Amino acid sequence: MPTIPSVKKLKKSEKLFLRALNGEILRRPPFWLMRQAGRYLPEYREVRLRSKNFLDFCYSPDLAVEVTLQPLRRYRMDAAILFSDILVVPDALGQKVDFIEGQGPVLEPIKNVDGINKLNINNIEENLSSVFETVNILSKELPDDIALIGFAGSPWTVITYMVEGKGGTDCGKAKAWAYESPNDFKKLVDLLVNATIKYLIEQIKNGAEAIQLFDSWSGVLSETQFHQWVIKPTKEIVDRIKRDFSHIPVIGFPKGAGILYKEFVEKTGVDAVSMDSATPLEWARDQLQTLCAVQGNLDNHLLFVGGRKLEAEIKRILEILSDGPFIFNLGHGILQFTPPENVGLLSDTIHAWRKS
Ligand code: CP3
Repeated sequence: MPTIPSVKKLKKSEKLFLRALNGEILRRPPFWLMRQAGRYLPEYREVRLRSKNFLDFCYSPDLAVEVTLQPLRRYRMDAAILFSDILVVPDALGQKVDFIEGQGPVLEPIKNVDGINKLNINNIEENLSSVFETVNILSKELPDDIALIGFAGSPWTVITYMVEGKGGTDCGKAKAWAYESPNDFKKLVDLLVNATIKYLIEQIKNGAEAIQLFDSWSGVLSETQFHQWVIKPTKEIVDRIKRDFSHIPVIGFPKGAGILYKEFVEKTGVDAVSMDSATPLEWARDQLQTLCAVQGNLDNHLLFVGGRKLEAEIKRILEILSDGPFIFNLGHGILQFTPPENVGLLSDTIHAWRKS
């Protein structure tokens, strides 16, 4: 059995973003930015004040629709990403999840099989119905040329939060559990694979036109663990989506995968791969772009700094990657204190590319 599905043909589209995902080489590559809706925008901070609790904010379709659209009113992105969070899935499974101002997410950690057994996958669709409503409204409100991206965290990354109980760790507890009791740990991974599939399929049914899987902490894993806990679960999710929705492109983002990016693409069947800022551009062009569309990988810290250096780096990335299927993005999400005008410079530089 070949591990890579033979040439995937997605639905023909006029949307630049979907055309790039379908492997087309375009005069001007499409762009969007991870965390394009967020605290760097004053209008986001204003709407955010209307909800004390971050999860309530994510579960309010009117507010979530509003902040999803905000960056598109200022800049000329080619795609909108649903406003939600990767941690709505553990919340929907019944784990206690909280977001604490200035500290980030705090979860009641899962420590053993008993903790896994307390999770309940049966109410995922019902518990997340407001997120699907947001997707539905967005799919009707977005302009014709803007694509709608749905997303989820990948099982490994979501599990690091579920097991550690917070972010900002070395993921040591999750890694140790996976080494010590791989069969128990696999139960949790399988549960997350199934929950993620349910979550994504509902997003697609409600109008998401592409999916991104965020695996922000895949870079902490050894090669063997990367195969087991990143490649395998991602392939299961991609296969399941493709079974019923073969026209929906899937973008994988195994942040920090290094040279394992290549095997990730070959074995998971993703349509595109999003690269962190450390991925060398020539290597990506020669080794990845020959296999699928690539997305990335401007350093979010340079976007924060701005100016001439930012402009030069945007052009360098465009120069190297825009002769193949390419979507311009960052290597990781926009930083909180990024000046909004720097995002404007980025948008204008991309739109001016190869125009004359
Ligand atoms: O615009 C978009 O990209 C869509 C919305 C989005 C958010 N989070 C909104 C958010 C997306 C795609 C995410 C993904 C996400 N969430 C990831 C994967 C990508 C990555 O950044 O690595 C992860 C690991 C999370 C978990 C998470 N959510 C953390 C660790 C935090 C706290 C850190 C922080 O930036 O405050 C969040 C909160 C969060 N998610 C905010 C936003 C806009 C900020 C909270 C606020 O506005 O009060």
